[in-house]
Amino acid sequence: MTRPRNDTLLRALMRQPTDYTPVWLMRQAGRYLPEYNATRARAGDFLTLCKNPDFATEVTLQPLARFGLDAAILFSDILTVPDAMGLGLHFVDGEGPRFERPLREEWEIRDLEAPDPEVHLRYVLDAVAQIRRALDNQVPLIGFCGSPFTLACYMIEGGSSHDFLHVKRMLYERPDLLHHVLDVNARALTAYLNAQIAYGAQAVMIFDTWGGVLSSPAYHACSLAYVQQILAGLTRSHDGHAVPVILFTKGGSNWLEAQAAAGCDALGVDWTIDLGRARERVGAKVALQGNLDPAALFAAPEVIEREAGRILASFGAGHGHVFNLGHGISQHTPPEHVQVLVDAVHTLSRQYHLAP
Ligand code: CP3
Repeated sequence: MTRPRNDTLLRALMRQPTDYTPVWLMRQAGRYLPEYNATRARAGDFLTLCKNPDFATEVTLQPLARFGLDAAILFSDILTVPDAMGLGLHFVDGEGPRFERPLREEWEIRDLEAPDPEVHLRYVLDAVAQIRRALDNQVPLIGFCGSPFTLACYMIEGGSSHDFLHVKRMLYERPDLLHHVLDVNARALTAYLNAQIAYGAQAVMIFDTWGGVLSSPAYHACSLAYVQQILAGLTRSHDGHAVPVILFTKGGSNWLEAQAAAGCDALGVDWTIDLGRARERVGAKVALQGNLDPAALFAAPEVIEREAGRILASFGAGHGHVFNLGHGISQHTPPEHVQVLVDAVHTLSRQYHLAP
């Protein structure tokens, strides 16, 4: 398969030379775009967008039609995997995801099985293949999954949570049960990401949104250990090209050194850490992705430019930085401000990529 014409993202993730810093945004296809809301209204609801490859392709391409982004990300959700395990996913407007059958009883956990992605997540793989065709090698396509622990949070809580009491109680009272869920998840997610790679994902990202709520020993045992299990099982090249893997852990900058040694190519970091400091800590082991506070996109264009410049300067000269937000874009973001950010990153970053 041919390399995308703009392969800046893939090069930056592998810490290879680029002319500028590539940029894409977590949740770049979403409710801040009026055209997304129009497609979602036609589809009826969010899950239909995910489950219908035509809709998924349409919304994946929407942000690329507007902004000069350096990557597309598969339009889907991390919760499609527990849905495929039979937990019954639906989205309640304004409240987020809900599972009809959260994991509460021991027998429910013992019965859990890793789904065959070719059968139970066929619609995602079809979307990956269709998006690749529609992209026509313009920019690379990023595939993704949630981390085993982050998925376990939703599977055990039954939805979003502020305190994660169910999952943390299981951690302390029945660690054997939690570890069983994490092991099934890790096996499921390895097969799922490998299938996305086989169908055309050119880089993949693991979203560990909730790893940061754990104590340090619990983070290592329950989050990072299972991410490592996935990393060890991933196909790292396809059709002669490396497939870089990004690990994003929200609130995870305590453990950057351990993450950098886990076997991924790049680490996503949130806005709470100074990027230059993060670079010192990971050295030449991995690339870094991040880390503008999504709230900065509400500010005036001059402020957005200044913040982009500050982050680029903090990373400094050299390769191995992918510009992104520190978490998903807010649904209330003015779309014009995204253009300001993309242009600022492309223009201001060139000075850091000059040949020595
Ligand atoms: O980044 C992208 O553009 C790709 C698509 C993508 C979505 N969700 C679409 C989405 C990705 C990569 C995700 C990942 C995801 N989903 C995560 C990890 C990243 C993160 O944000 O921490 C998590 C925790 C989820 C679970 C999830 N999905 C929640 C908690 C919610 C509700 C919160 C909200 O923003 O409404 C969703 C819904 C969701 N996933 C939307 C989108 C565009 C909004 C759905 C809508 O149209 O109503």
